[in-house]
Amino acid sequence: MSSLCQDICQIAFTSKLVTLFIIYPGARLNCYDSIFEIREKGEQDVEAYLSETDYRKLIVPYEESMENVEKRIIVLGKNYEETYGCEAVHHIQKRIKSKASIEGKLIRKNVEVSPENARDTLRDIAGIRVICYDTNVIYEIAESLKRQDDMEFIREKDYIARPKANGYRSYHLIVAVPFYLLETKEYYPVEIQFRTMAMDMWASLEHRSCYKKSEQEKKRWQEQFREYAALLDQMERDITRA
Ligand code: GTP
Ligand code: MG
Repeated sequence: MSSLCQDICQIAFTSKLVTLFIIYPGARLNCYDSIFEIREKGEQDVEAYLSETDYRKLIVPYEESMENVEKRIIVLGKNYEETYGCEAVHHIQKRIKSKASIEGKLIRKNVEVSPENARDTLRDIAGIRVICYDTNVIYEIAESLKRQDDMEFIREKDYIARPKANGYRSYHLIVAVPFYLLETKEYYPVEIQFRTMAMDMWASLEHRSCYKKSEQEKKRWQEQFREYAALLDQMERDITRA
């Protein structure tokens, strides 16, 4: 959108929310925000509501907490391999939510954009994705993490036992990790998504097809993806049994 056009929109609509939906259509259309999307749709157009300094300050404890949880997962993966003599974790990805993505999500939630509100309302500023060889690894590592008594358990969603209607499968766990300051101890949440390689491939492809296509195309792909999910699930079961 040209800057002249943006100016006109901003004069016409004083509410930041309305302005955002005009210059940032992705704010409403985003069906979910993949934790590993480096740049979300329309991100380059979003207005800057958090200052760069606020953002940097906000994410420091999340970065620390994310490293902390990743180390624990690596240790558990190695221990699984030693215990059962088979491979556990294929690879790990991690990311801190971008400034524009934090702003966009707060606005979608109808919350004023501020570092305090980001801390209070978002649980996925720090995200880790753990790609495992099979579902036994996922459950064993997740259960073991939940038993670690210096962390707080916040929430889990088992989309492996109960896949979403579109076929999405993954095990989501949110834990809060202690972050020690001179005088205080604070807890920061880290979202962990455990997936097998097949689940991860499905989710990456489905994510792309979900936000890059028209409504009509999306509908057609949804049916296809339900079938792919069933096929991949069957493939994994066969391979695990073999
Ligand atoms: P958001 O974090 O706002 O999405 O909501 P939530 O906390 O209720 O979500 P949930 O735990 O169900 O999902 C969080 C993340 O899982 C999303 O940001 C995506 O990365 C991933 N996810 C969830 N559902 C889907 C899906 O249907 N397809 C794909 N590709 N990814 C999904
Ligand atoms: Mg999320």
